[in-house]
Amino acid sequence: MTSSRNRISKAVIPAAGLGTRFLPATKATPKEMLPVVDKPAIQYVVEEAVTAGLSDVLMVTGRNKRPLEDHFDRNYELEEVLRNKGDATKLTRVQESSDLATMHYVRQGDPKGLGHAVLCAEPHVGDEPFAVLLGDDLIDPRDPLLARMNAVRDEHGGSVIALMEVDPETIHLYGSASVSGTDDEDVVRVSGLVEKPSVADAPSNLAIIGRYVLDPAVFAVLRDTAPGRGGEIQLTDALQALAADPSLGGPVHGVVFRGRRYDTGDRGDYLRAIVRLACEREDLGPDFRDWLRAYVNKEM
Ligand code: G1P
Repeated sequence: MTSSRNRISKAVIPAAGLGTRFLPATKATPKEMLPVVDKPAIQYVVEEAVTAGLSDVLMVTGRNKRPLEDHFDRNYELEEVLRNKGDATKLTRVQESSDLATMHYVRQGDPKGLGHAVLCAEPHVGDEPFAVLLGDDLIDPRDPLLARMNAVRDEHGGSVIALMEVDPETIHLYGSASVSGTDDEDVVRVSGLVEKPSVADAPSNLAIIGRYVLDPAVFAVLRDTAPGRGGEIQLTDALQALAADPSLGGPVHGVVFRGRRYDTGDRGDYLRAIVRLACEREDLGPDFRDWLRAYVNKEM
């Protein structure tokens, strides 16, 4: 089913959330700008989209999100200072984020949920399949998930979500999927989805993680989706409607991801993400690992 009509070129990154779990750090700084080692979390996500061939990136932002636009734009003053100093390394670091992708921005206005944020992307996306990447989930670049999801959409059409097995006790933090197997070990057909169910109501311990490849039919479904969990328009509910009735816009498949995912959405996981990524860095890792080993042996 591969055709140019199917080729995905646009990524949508919802980034309008208030980040209240990180107050006071997020009082005047968007949570997406919090550093993970030495890069803002959002830059990893844009880099992932670009690596998967999606160089047209739309961020759905809100009030107080100007630093996001500035980060992906040129900073001529800083570049000039670094150029005059002859500091090529830092100059490259400053330019990396502005040279990455073609960035577009739209404001969500009212924070009416993830489904509503995706709907705000419709005028930009139009009638093409597109990807959605949630900023709280970082996927290790060594485990290319989006490329796999694109390949599954090429094969089956419709929409593709990313799933991960989680401890059943934590399923209430995610959307949960009921699925059946396919010929591919890592691909499932999704027959139902529930947003943030209790352990008892969860159809499985397969949790939705924040990567989606969506058929544009999702926009019409979202327009008809009533507010759900938390009074918000849920993307999960629109995908449930698509899964229940493939005549609306093709089937929904899931790629079961078994690679490395770092959750930066809560404080404990954010700290773990920084430690893990710092340990693995070629430049900082060796010294940091030595220090960490000594620290753990001495203090714990
Ligand atoms: C969103 C989705 C949820 C998904 C999660 C993944 O929830 O609504 O289905 O499991 O992202 O991170 P949020 O964490 O934004 O509340």
